Amino acid sequence: MESARGALMGRFLDCNYNDREVVKDIVLTKFNKFSEIKAHKVTIELHSLEDQVRISLYRKEEPLCFFAFTAFPNNFTIAVSTSTFVYPRFRNLGVGTALQKVKKKVCKALDIQMLLATVNVTNESEIHILKKHGWKIAGRTNTVYLFSKTIKTK
Ligand SMILES: CC(C)(COP(=O)(O)OP(=O)(O)OC[C@H]1O[C@@H](n2cnc3c(N)ncnc32)[C@H](O)[C@@H]1OP(=O)(O)O)[C@@H](O)C(=O)NCCC(=O)NCCS
Repeated sequence: MESARGALMGRFLDCNYNDREVVKDIVLTKFNKFSEIKAHKVTIELHSLEDQVRISLYRKEEPLCFFAFTAFPNNFTIAVSTSTFVYPRFRNLGVGTALQKVKKKVCKALDIQMLLATVNVTNESEIHILKKHGWKIAGRTNTVYLFSKTIKTK
């Protein structure tokens, strides 16, 4: 049975100020330890809509990367990871890899037990990162792979 916390978080932080702050802390703590970035403190913007939380990171004033989780319809233990983007200037420095660790932590905080994501079959770097971080291919169409990852809650 879905936990009360899962159901609450399924509405993605709209009604719970403390959980917003927990997520911000997790993301910033992870990123400010990250060696390429740590000399320049990273700041965060967190937008939450009815079914989506979107997190954007900045190095000083400059946009660094963003990602979003969308709640899976009627099952808040699953989220769809969408819109992962590292600004070109910061690519191949390990930011995309760091985002994997951040996402895992955020999932644990929000009681999300499975992530889904679609990736274009030509997107070699993202496919490489996902496979390296325990994502499995769950299916494919002509143009995209559907990946899934189980998040260990204990
Ligand atoms: C995909 C993306 C998020 C990766 O971010 P990043 O910060 O450059 O990633 P990292 O630096 O952490 O890691 C890149 C990895 O891909 C590998 N890589 C790069 N080009 C590659 C290629 N052509 N084939 C295979 N692996 C490749 C690198 O070697 C590195 O792996 P390693 O750490 O094992 O050496 C970024 O390129 C991006 O924002 N792309 C545009 C948006 C996008 O495609 N988002 C994903 C949507 S599903």
